[in-house]
Amino acid sequence: MNNSRAQITAVGSYVPEKILTNEDLERMVDTNDEWIIKRTGIKERRMASEQEFTSDICVKAVENLIEKNNKSVHDVDMIIVCTMTPDFKTPSVAALVQAKLGIPHTGAIDLNAACAGFTYGLHVANGLVTAGLNKKVLVIGAETMSKITDFTDRTTCVLFGDGGGAVLVEYNEQYPSFLSSHLGSQGELGKNLYCTDLSESINGESLTTTGNITQNGREVYKWAVNTVPKGMLSVLEKTQISLQEVDWFIPHSANLRIIESICERSQFPIEKTLKSLVEYGNTSAATIPLALDKGVTEGKIKRGDKILLYGFGGGLTHAGVLLEWTV
Ligand SMILES: CC(C)(COP(=O)(O)OP(=O)(O)OC[C@H]1O[C@@H](n2cnc3c(N)ncnc32)[C@H](O)[C@@H]1OP(=O)(O)O)[C@@H](O)C(=O)NCCC(=O)NCCS
Repeated sequence: MNNSRAQITAVGSYVPEKILTNEDLERMVDTNDEWIIKRTGIKERRMASEQEFTSDICVKAVENLIEKNNKSVHDVDMIIVCTMTPDFKTPSVAALVQAKLGIPHTGAIDLNAACAGFTYGLHVANGLVTAGLNKKVLVIGAETMSKITDFTDRTTCVLFGDGGGAVLVEYNEQYPSFLSSHLGSQGELGKNLYCTDLSESINGESLTTTGNITQNGREVYKWAVNTVPKGMLSVLEKTQISLQEVDWFIPHSANLRIIESICERSQFPIEKTLKSLVEYGNTSAATIPLALDKGVTEGKIKRGDKILLYGFGGGLTHAGVLLEWTV
């Protein structure tokens, strides 16, 4: 049974102006447009300027949400920023966002579940609002992946980009958006996707401490295509809704081949997926809100639509949320 009392009432997004195309990357490392498109589906990605940080991206995404939806955030009582690329270790990005937006009475926390961050953030926001602990929560997924990417490493620099998206989750008993969710973590596989300049081992296994994102792409790929289809079914089995009744699937936009394989294994039509991959690359916690905002802005997502969001990545972590669009 669905007990949610939380409604997603608005969505917005922002990406930095600077575009880095596959042709630009050809001039930087030994790669080519054909390889990148064939293996990942990515054509270009956005790059934050040197002076632009995750909190700046968050603020612009929220300003876009305010402008498009004629909403106020003055009475927001909790800010959750989902990110793995904070401006600082402390203060949190959420606290910086609170100050920059001048929100007077609010809690502010960062949530790090890497590329699954946004769906974890939605799960938490639904819980807080449904429990009556908060009334109006801003959930933001934003990243400056370019700041932790080694642009001499062709195996990672072609994949990642910068951007952010935001939603407002408000108390509403009549029109809740949240139907169910499912979370998972496999920290024992953490060494396959990490970023560190501190610790030199995960679970006793030694790491290369470059300060940049490092991954075993093949292992992450295999894990994602095995884990996500099962997770999607776990989200749905808590409801009376079948996969065939899902109108839109928004998987984390890591890689087109991963999305194709997930759809094939789940027998879900790829035409009903919404992605932010081709134009923005893998923006980690931002890929899902970017695709959601695009789907709403382009009029694809309509009132009554069932939308399955599924984030997966570093941790390794994953989280799925089933929504009904009720605005
Ligand atoms: C990263 C990824 C695209 C690599 O694709 P792949 O098919 O596994 O390719 P491999 O790593 O086996 O490399 C194949 C060859 O391409 C080369 N290569 C790697 N990156 C390259 C690039 N950017 N351009 C050209 N060649 C490249 C490799 O060096 C290798 O060459 P070799 O055969 O001479 O040794 C793929 O593993 C992947 O998508 N993994 C998931 C990554 C991901 O999404 N992570 C984030 C999850 S949140």
